[in-house]
Amino acid sequence: MSSHEEVTGEVEKTVVGADKYAVFGNPIRHSRSPQIHAAFASQTSQDMKYRSILVEKDKFAATAASFFDNGGRGLNITVPFKHDAFEFADKLSERAGRAGAVNTLRLEADGSVFGDNTDGVGLVRDMVANLGWRISGSRVLVLGAGGAVRGILELVLGEKPSELLIVNRTASRAIDLASAFSGLGPVEGGAYDLLQGRQFDVIINGTSASLEGELPPLPDTLLTERSCCYDMMYASDPTVFMRWAAQHTAWAVSDGLGMLVEQAAESFFLWRQSRPQTGPVITQLRTALEAEQRQAE
Ligand code: ATR
Repeated sequence: MSSHEEVTGEVEKTVVGADKYAVFGNPIRHSRSPQIHAAFASQTSQDMKYRSILVEKDKFAATAASFFDNGGRGLNITVPFKHDAFEFADKLSERAGRAGAVNTLRLEADGSVFGDNTDGVGLVRDMVANLGWRISGSRVLVLGAGGAVRGILELVLGEKPSELLIVNRTASRAIDLASAFSGLGPVEGGAYDLLQGRQFDVIINGTSASLEGELPPLPDTLLTERSCCYDMMYASDPTVFMRWAAQHTAWAVSDGLGMLVEQAAESFFLWRQSRPQTGPVITQLRTALEAEQRQAE
């Protein structure tokens, strides 16, 4: 397995025998998770080490099995392995079962592996606790119907929005998602033309369009002066969606950096039963992103 390892962050004062954790992904070089978990571990005085591991596309199960066989205690899972991790887990949380995706694996005392998905908690905690936005009673719009959106719907519906509309370029995926989650709240799915003449209080961009610098087709009339817009992606520069929201005078706009830290905090809690403070870590990452941006200019 050593040929797949890229150690990009390690907890200070790691001693021999410290509990081993890692994030699996492909690509993995730019993962912020080692930095985040190192900060959590030092803040809560946990003796653990956390590294990032590049896993070959068809080797997830073998690499995960080997990690746990060699004393690994827990894993974070990122693109493109969240479904592989879902299949790998011996037991699943209810929310991971519904999401069809796992971003956290934990070795249990009996040697089995438990799978959970902390993305939805991360998103909701960032929007509600950190940013002070209200989902409860709000009209919520979700853009996109891929794996990222499936992972957050249960938690967003758990906040009891007055309505939740999912729109997607491929309308059938949004309709299927809406029907899969219809037991949890007032959810509807369809194509972007459903947006004509409608307004929303909270808009969550869960498409991967931002990665390509593209904007989904959004009507100019979508926002009110109280609308809050969240992009689940983060970057040193505002995404195209965030710039669109600011130009259309959204009340508040955020990227997904806080979600990244909050989902990590929930994973950390699952592993260590200790809750780190997320605020200082979000600030630390934001500062690092800004410094990288200045260097690139
Ligand atoms: P992820 O796991 O990140 O959600 P995914 O399952 O490939 O990745 O889903 C990507 C989502 O972004 C999909 O909803 C996709 O729309 P389609 O289902 O129609 O492919 C959406 N998406 C990607 N690029 C887009 C673009 N340029 N405009 C609008 N939606 C886009």
